[in-house]
Amino acid sequence: MLPWKKLDTAREPGGRELSLWQRADEYAIRVDGQSLMGSTRSASEVALGVRGCAGVASARAPRVLVGGLGMGFTLRAALDTSPPDARVDVAELVPAVVAWNRGPLAHLAGRPLDDPRVTVLERDVGTVLREADGTYDAVLLDVDNGPAALTARSNRGLYDAAGIARVARALRPGGVLAVWSVSDDAAFTARLVRGGLRARTERVPKGASGRGRHTLWLAVRAR
Ligand SMILES: C[S@@+](CC[C@H](N)C(=O)[O-])C[C@H]1O[C@@H](n2cnc3c(N)ncnc32)[C@H](O)[C@@H]1O
Repeated sequence: MLPWKKLDTAREPGGRELSLWQRADEYAIRVDGQSLMGSTRSASEVALGVRGCAGVASARAPRVLVGGLGMGFTLRAALDTSPPDARVDVAELVPAVVAWNRGPLAHLAGRPLDDPRVTVLERDVGTVLREADGTYDAVLLDVDNGPAALTARSNRGLYDAAGIARVARALRPGGVLAVWSVSDDAAFTARLVRGGLRARTERVPKGASGRGRHTLWLAVRAR
């Protein structure tokens, strides 16, 4: 088997090291040596984009926020599901991840950053949400392993009661919050409902083989 080759490293603002790896046509991003994601299994990331943007497909000039660029699979699916007059902001904490998506990773999801509907914000998605007010028709979050499996403590504030209130404020009435997670978390569903969102979960295949599932939350702000 071919060995993995390290292509680049970068630091998150919190100090953790992000690294980009390649083995033949396969890519991986690691955080402090632990796998964050790989390029070979993207079905649930794609499902986040498709399911999260299903409601904007026929909307006029919808606004979408994607939190966490990763390898661009969710962004690509959001673009493919959104109409031509959509505007899609993508908030990515680590500028090197954006550079990787313009460079060695660009082809994986069909160069989504080249789409004129996309605005890249090299910022914490929590800050973007704090500044938004009834702005977005859809907010798609995949910045961590999920509400119950945080790898970055700094992301806890996206999933707690205050974070949910912030997202609810950032959404237009009828807007959708979609969240990716490695596993289900009943406490997060309860917090979404307490936060005034109509929430449900979907279990979606991890990859093309159909083996194993990840969890998506789809939570709607009342009209
Ligand atoms: C698992 S990856 C996202 C994968 C993505 N859904 C895809 O389709 O490739 C998580 C990404 O979120 C970024 N991230 C982590 N915390 C963030 C935050 N608070 N704000 C914005 N981006 C963040 C990471 O740098 C990483 O690029």
